[in-house]
Parts: sequence; structure tokens; C-alpha cells
Amino acid sequence: MACVQQQSGRKSTNKRKIIETFEFDVEKETTSTSAIASAFKRRAISKSISVKRASTPTTQKALIVVRKGEYELIDHHAFPTLRNEEEVVIRNLATGLNPIDWKTVDYNFCLPAFPWVTGREMAGVVEKVGSQVTTCKPGDRVWTSTYYRDSRAGCFQEFVTVPQHTVLPIPSNMGHESAACLGVAALTSAMTLWKWLCVPEPSTTPPRPCLSGADGYLLVWGGSSVTGQYTIQLAKASHFSVIAVCSEKTKDLIYSLGANHVITRDNRSNQDILDCIRSICGDRTTRAVDLVGTDTAPFCMAALSKTTPSHFVPLAMMKAGEAVPPNVTVHNVEMKRFVLDKESRSYAESLNKLLEAGKLKEPRLEVLHGGLGRVREGLEMVKKGDLMGKKFVVSMAAQSMKSGEEAYA
Ligand SMILES: NC(=O)c1ccc[n+]([C@@H]2O[C@H](COP(=O)([O-])OP(=O)(O)OC[C@H]3O[C@@H](n4cnc5c(N)ncnc54)[C@H](OP(=O)(O)O)[C@@H]3O)[C@@H](O)[C@H]2O)c1
Repeated sequence: MACVQQQSGRKSTNKRKIIETFEFDVEKETTSTSAIASAFKRRAISKSISVKRASTPTTQKALIVVRKGEYELIDHHAFPTLRNEEEVVIRNLATGLNPIDWKTVDYNFCLPAFPWVTGREMAGVVEKVGSQVTTCKPGDRVWTSTYYRDSRAGCFQEFVTVPQHTVLPIPSNMGHESAACLGVAALTSAMTLWKWLCVPEPSTTPPRPCLSGADGYLLVWGGSSVTGQYTIQLAKASHFSVIAVCSEKTKDLIYSLGANHVITRDNRSNQDILDCIRSICGDRTTRAVDLVGTDTAPFCMAALSKTTPSHFVPLAMMKAGEAVPPNVTVHNVEMKRFVLDKESRSYAESLNKLLEAGKLKEPRLEVLHGGLGRVREGLEMVKKGDLMGKKFVVSMAAQSMKSGEEAYA
């Protein structure tokens, strides 16, 4: 069977026009998350939102994990208290769903105690800040990426509490539902490439190619996964040549993101796919990111150069004791570094700049409206797979606005 080969010259653009200023003012009454989210949708998007509140709530809604494999949706979870003056409480408008969310609960890991709140990424409006917070203020539209060890940072609750360096402004051309999906796939791709794989960050002037098409390739196995889509685009933005593996039905999407070559996986064994990669790239693949799992990790390493120092990131795990060729370095990407190292904020800021400049195409969203009660259903769909490149996000708004009211859709 012939290997699929095609060069794509397409540049991704994001030309959505968003009205810049809008102030949402809710008098006297405590404002519901749904009302704020709907107001954004009805009117426009701004950098901040002003919300007058009668009082700070003492309880909140939360989807808590009560034991392995079991959730409960409650409305009397404690409103968070700040543990230090650099913390920020964000009112949740939308939260992205990820494979790690259902795996954590089904297999009982990354759950320090019961009950616990999970969920790794969200966007919303700053509700409250500690006295040392300088990067944002109440009313700002923000997104964040969180660390599972703090239950207050779990995103499947109404108010999410995180350190200030992890709180980023939502790019002005993005809605909160899209921004809610930046904290895992997009940020992981950025940190994988820029921190662990030492790919130079693209700047406003084109960066000096460190590996051009003539020198080396970056392989993305699982190119149509949401993380794969960002990885392909970020690698292209840094002038890498990219070869990706996905199914026939998502091939066009992957070319549209700039991949130079796409190998379709339908009716092909991993060995066949490996042979295709090597027939196209020869011995010039020097970076590989696997987004599929333990079965594909060894094939990714086998696709790498046998002679040049090369790098592999098994983002979807690799078997303990798997043989690693002597010229290959395996990098263990730890996204907790974003939360534990304040300087990691710079990766999110660079990502924001690319998004603001319209240089990254977001994955197609599948929005589940209606709040935290939809999370379980969304996670079941993520678990089933076959997502066609879509990203699932739960909006706290009760429902989608009518066509024409979604300024940013
Ligand atoms: N360590 C970290 O911090 C980190 C961060 C992000 C993600 N991850 C991990 O990375 C993986 C991907 O996450 P995601 O959220 O980006 O995934 P996702 O969007 O849920 O990706 C699912 C897609 O993967 C593709 N796929 C499945 N089997 C494949 C195969 N054998 N070969 C090629 N593609 C295949 C399918 O698309 P097609 O049918 O179109 O091929 C499927 O729709 C997960 O295991 C996740 O846990 C880890």
C-alpha cells in the first residue's frame, strides 16, 4: 500500500472579529455563572467584566469524586478560602474535558483523598484575589491550567482557586469556551516543544530554523488528537517539518494545520506505518511525540534517526522497561511544572501571543451547555474516542445562544 504523501502550504489564520469593550453590570443580586456566560455570548467579549455582588457566597456547586469511579453533584461544597495572598479565585464559565479526567476516576490515581474535585482546565472571570496579586483583578476574563494536588483547583466546581502565575488573560479574539481548552492540550504542546524538546519558540520575526525539512522531521503519532493538533501547529510555527499519523477521516484536518506529510492508519499495522514514515523521512526524524499509548511508543522510537541524537516524548505513556535506542533521549513531560515553577508562566504567555496574533487554529469545539451536571456525560464521550478532532467543553451557561448572538462562534 502506498504511503500518503503531500506537502501543504496552508497557513492557519484566525480572523474572528470580536468587539473589544463590554461591561456587564449585575445589580445587587448574586450573579449566577450561567447569567454571566450568557451575557458574554449575547453581547460581545471584553477584557474584563464588572460584577456587583451582594455578598460572597459561602457554598458552591461542585462535582465531587466520592470514591473510585463515582461522582456526586452537590450544591453545598465550601466556598474556597485563600491559603496565601498570591491566590486567585476564578468564577467558572467553562471547563475543558480531557482523557486524564476519566482515567483518574476510573483507575483511582491522582486522587489524594475522597471527596476530591478533579478537572484540569477552565476559563472564567476573576472573583477574588489575595493582597499580593498583581497579574489580574476581579472582573478580568482569564484561563488557567491546574495541578491535581489541590482540590480547590479542581475545575469541576463553580469557583476555582489557583496561584496567580497560572492565571492568564483570555486572548481578545477568543471566547471563554475556547479559552477553557487551553490549559491541557495547548499548554502541554507548548511546554513539550519549548521546554522539553528545546524547539525554539516562534517570535514575531521568523526564528532561525533549528531543523529544517532538509535536516530533520518531527513526528506526531496521534496527529488528530487535540494535543496533536496544537503540537503540529506549534512545530510548524518554529519551522519544523512535520509528519503525522491519524485516520483517513481526519487526514484533511491535519493537512490544514500544516503537516508536511500525513500517514493514515486505517488498515495499517504499526509496522506498516513505521515503514511509511521511514520511506518518507529516511533517517531524518529527530523528534517524536506519541499521543496514542504503550503500543505505539516503541514504533515512534523506531522511526527516529539511528545516527543523530534524537528525542522522544511519550505523552500517552510507555511501558516500564521499554528498550530505548542509545541515541534517543526519552523526556518525561511533567505539567505540574507549570504550577510549581513560577517562571513557567512565560510558556503560557508565549502561547497567548500566538493565539492573539491568530497564528493557531483551535480544535473544533463540542460544547455541552448546562453546567457541571454535563461533565460525566462529556467524559463518557471522550472515553469512547473517535472524536474526529473535536474537543469537548462544558459551558456553565444554560444553553447556547441563537445564531447571530454568538459574536465569537
Ligand atoms: N502528560 C500530559 O501532561 C498529557 C497532556 C495532554 C494529553 N496527554 C495524553 O495524550 C493523549 C491524547 O490526549 P488528547 O486529549 O489530545 O486526545 P484526544 O483529543 O482525545 O484524541 C483522541 C484521538 O486520538 C486518535 N487516535 C486514537 N488511536 C490512534 C492511533 N492508534 N494512531 C493515531 N491516532 C489515534 C483518534 O483520532 P483519529 O481516529 O483521527 O486518528 C482519536 O480521535 C491521551 O492519552 C492523554 O492522556 C498527556
